[in-house]
Amino acid sequence: MSFTAPKGTYDILPPESSAFLAVRDALSRPAALAGYEYIETPIFEDTALFARGVGESTDVVSKEMYTFQDKGGRSLTLRPEGTAGVIRAVIEHKLYAGQLPVKLWYAGPNFRYERPQAGRYRHFTQVGAEAVGVDDPMLDAEIIALAWEGYRALGLGGFRLLLTSLGDDTCRPAYRALLQAFLRDLDIDDDTRRRADINPLRVLDDKRPAVLAQLDGAPLMVEHLCGPCAVHYDDVRARLADIGVQWEEAPRLVRGLDYYMRTTFEFVHSGLGAQSAIGGGGRYDGLSAAIGGPALTGIGWALGVDRTLLAMRAEGVGLPTAARVQVYGVPLGAAAAERLFGLTAGLRAAGVSADMAYGARGLKGAMKAADRSGAAYAIVLGDRDIRAGTAQLKDLRSGDQLALPLDSLVATILEKLT
Ligand code: HAM
Repeated sequence: MSFTAPKGTYDILPPESSAFLAVRDALSRPAALAGYEYIETPIFEDTALFARGVGESTDVVSKEMYTFQDKGGRSLTLRPEGTAGVIRAVIEHKLYAGQLPVKLWYAGPNFRYERPQAGRYRHFTQVGAEAVGVDDPMLDAEIIALAWEGYRALGLGGFRLLLTSLGDDTCRPAYRALLQAFLRDLDIDDDTRRRADINPLRVLDDKRPAVLAQLDGAPLMVEHLCGPCAVHYDDVRARLADIGVQWEEAPRLVRGLDYYMRTTFEFVHSGLGAQSAIGGGGRYDGLSAAIGGPALTGIGWALGVDRTLLAMRAEGVGLPTAARVQVYGVPLGAAAAERLFGLTAGLRAAGVSADMAYGARGLKGAMKAADRSGAAYAIVLGDRDIRAGTAQLKDLRSGDQLALPLDSLVATILEKLT
């Protein structure tokens, strides 16, 4: 019997795995530069946290959660997203009692039982950032700019920022009623009618031509914002314009999570087909209170690492591939191998990445391995060299080879590499 990775999951293998790490780092670096600190929360949480936080009526909660009972009878769920867990931690540890805003970033796997297709997986990785506890439109602009920076740093050009405001508890209920009244008169199927009752905004996202054609004159949230929400949205856009971040108004943008209000956004990429969202986020001022915390405001995003990699591939943007090591040891015989074992340890201690051929595979095989490692230098060592107190240092680019004293070899290599 043999096994394969579960449906909807995939392995990230070398050498592409180094690009995966590089993307994860590049997407989080702008947040770190803006003072966001790293947080790690459990991969599973109380099921009720997601039900209350993300919303019972969302597909994520109602259809896609990996929920199980542990041996203690608790209902737990593999996290389908990161925000609910982060806010739970902020509340539990009273992080809001200190300096505000609480600025946090995180990275890790998430789990959604979705129908797998290109760019849509059941296990996927996000980098996320959240700014909690201060209601300032400048923070909205900052968080959006940080995502923008991350994509740009990777050399991506074909992405767009879709932006809208979803209003708040003051203006959204009235708008919702207005939209429902509009939808009531349309020629739509029962399922869509039910959706219009529960979550009318989601009907605006319907891609079917027959529905789409009827949505032309639908009222839009941005046209019905209350005074404070309109001012907030204007401020966010003014600050984005100040720092050269370009966006498109997306008044029909619908997110798959229920906690959003006011500023809401998505980054989409044209090279990805149906799963075009490479990242998304927004303001979630009601989330903390909804999960039993104080009334804390918050804004954040999560960027999809898997889809960002696909977008880079689609654009032909060079993925960073680092050499596996800088120096590779090629021993000729057991005594040389033992000597090289110590030398490679010494190199690593000096900060040089080094590996060697294990398992007595002979000169030819070991040299091939040295080439494959991407190393700049190979240390070739045989019994005769040991007796002479030297080693052969081979420059793998030029092919030049040089006998050097064994005693000072680490120092000599360090010098050559800097
Ligand atoms: P989300 O839009 O559900 O937001 O996910 C963010 C990103 O994760 C998506 O844009 C996409 O790139 C990636 N993603 C989501 N589902 C999948 C999947 N099945 N396969 C591959 N990639 C996927 C959130 O998760 C919110 N927590 C973001 C946020 C943070 N809002 C405020 N703070």
